[in-house]
Amino acid sequence: HPRHLMSVSDLSPAEFTKLVLNASSHKSAIKTAIAAGQTPHSSLAGQSVALLFSKRSTRTRVSTEAAVALMGGHPMFLGKDDIQLGINESLRDTSTVISSMTSCMVARVGAHSEITGLAEHSSVPVINALSEDFHPLQTLADFQTIHEALPERTATKTSLGLEGLKVAWVGDCNNVCIDLATACVKMGVDIAIASPTGYGVPDRLRPIILSSPGPNPVPGKLFETTIPEEAVKDADIIVTDTWISMGQEAETKDRLKAFAGYQVTNELAKRGGAKPDWKFLHCLPRHQEEVDDEVFYGPRSLVFQEGENRLWAALATLEAFVINKGKIV
Ligand code: CP
Ligand code: NVA
Repeated sequence: HPRHLMSVSDLSPAEFTKLVLNASSHKSAIKTAIAAGQTPHSSLAGQSVALLFSKRSTRTRVSTEAAVALMGGHPMFLGKDDIQLGINESLRDTSTVISSMTSCMVARVGAHSEITGLAEHSSVPVINALSEDFHPLQTLADFQTIHEALPERTATKTSLGLEGLKVAWVGDCNNVCIDLATACVKMGVDIAIASPTGYGVPDRLRPIILSSPGPNPVPGKLFETTIPEEAVKDADIIVTDTWISMGQEAETKDRLKAFAGYQVTNELAKRGGAKPDWKFLHCLPRHQEEVDDEVFYGPRSLVFQEGENRLWAALATLEAFVINKGKIV
């Protein structure tokens, strides 16, 4: 059976560390090679990677297509109106057929069961490109960005050296939040999540956040609150995402009301007592309601570096799961 990547919880601390470090070293090596007019990588030559996307995407689509191209392979984008899946054909049949012709499926789905269903019947690795519950490629890019922003912290084989750091998530505890929290606990980073009542960590997913650390590093702690000021206290990094994820558009009115007061601003960080040099992350796409322009476009913001790092996270993940058959070395 091929090894799939469904969520961050599929990775050990050592594997997560290695993927982030590989992404970072490919970033500098490939940029140098391109600048010197060289062909960067050709390990996917002659192979195709199918991208099955049932939802919109800018970063995930572009980063995956670009990563496959950089590796000399052929990315095959299959949007929801391009293939029979969902209308005229089952997950099982689609997965069996597509995996018989390609080297990998990268899929963006609705319910998480859709991606586990694809994986169940696939003869090639399946990579989760966002489901309702998880977004592992985003988390890898987020940790790469944190790693790059803190060069004084030294990585080891099992740890990025981020122990003791505090991340604050202010907003909706969605797919991006769950995998980020899982990675924090795994990598020894404390995470505080502030969400309005009813929009916090779902009970069914809390065990996943807490279940996957190794003995090394010492697991990070998870705090949950409804008070944004409480979450940002002593935070090194403040993170948020949209209040209305894809598929939740019908809830817009209720959500805008529930999340009033959760906008990330410099005033909130100051009031709550974030660290003086706190940094800001957001997976994008972004709306002004969840973070104001001053923070989003300001000097603390790492969001565009984070966006670019999606490319290197995709490349490192494809290398590990497709070329190296799931061995993360
Ligand atoms: N962050 C992210 O996954 O963006 P897209 O929806 O544009 O892929
Ligand atoms: N939580 C958002 C992330 C988009 C990248 C969504 O699921 O729509």
